[in-house]
Amino acid sequence: MNVRLAKREDRPVLRRLFAETVRAINATDYSAEQVEAWASVPVDLEGCPDRLGSRSVFVAELGCEILGFTTFDTDGHLDHLYVHHRFQKHGVASALLLKIEEEAVSRGINRIFTDASITARPFFENVGFRLINQRTVVVN
Ligand SMILES: CC(C)(COP(=O)(O)OP(=O)(O)OC[C@H]1O[C@@H](n2cnc3c(N)ncnc32)[C@H](O)[C@@H]1OP(=O)(O)O)[C@@H](O)C(=O)NCCC(=O)NCCS
Repeated sequence: MNVRLAKREDRPVLRRLFAETVRAINATDYSAEQVEAWASVPVDLEGCPDRLGSRSVFVAELGCEILGFTTFDTDGHLDHLYVHHRFQKHGVASALLLKIEEEAVSRGINRIFTDASITARPFFENVGFRLINQRTVVVN
């Protein structure tokens, strides 16, 4: 598996992967109405491909297939972390997180934070994140 910065031509693939993952994976923890509201949120890929903005977008790929992606902001905010439903629990998110940690170190960012879904909370706790607050997000 290779982790690299996203290219412009990856954008449609990432948007599709996001919507499909929400519908296939998060549907376990959220209602059909919540899932549809979430899956139709536009993915903010600012920083892809030029990385000039405050956001870096990384993809994990195997051969020419994208398995997952993440977005990371210069304030330490890990916004998106989505793994294709066919490649869950194969270490894809861990590989993306490792890249983010390297990025954080190279940019002098000493705190990484996220707004985790109910689905992703066990993953984040497993890798050392801890819950600070619980909140409800309104989308669409
Ligand atoms: C959360 C998510 C990104 C994890 O991706 P992944 O590639 O399956 O995670 P990994 O394979 O790297 O898992 C790493 C570790 O976390 C554990 N883990 C992953 N998901 C888990 C879950 N739902 N419950 C418990 N443990 C989990 C794995 O078992 C593994 O543990 P191990 O190293 O001890 O074996 C993925 O499930 C996903 O795309 N979820 C839907 C989208 C989502 O909610 N994203 C977050 C948006 S806020």
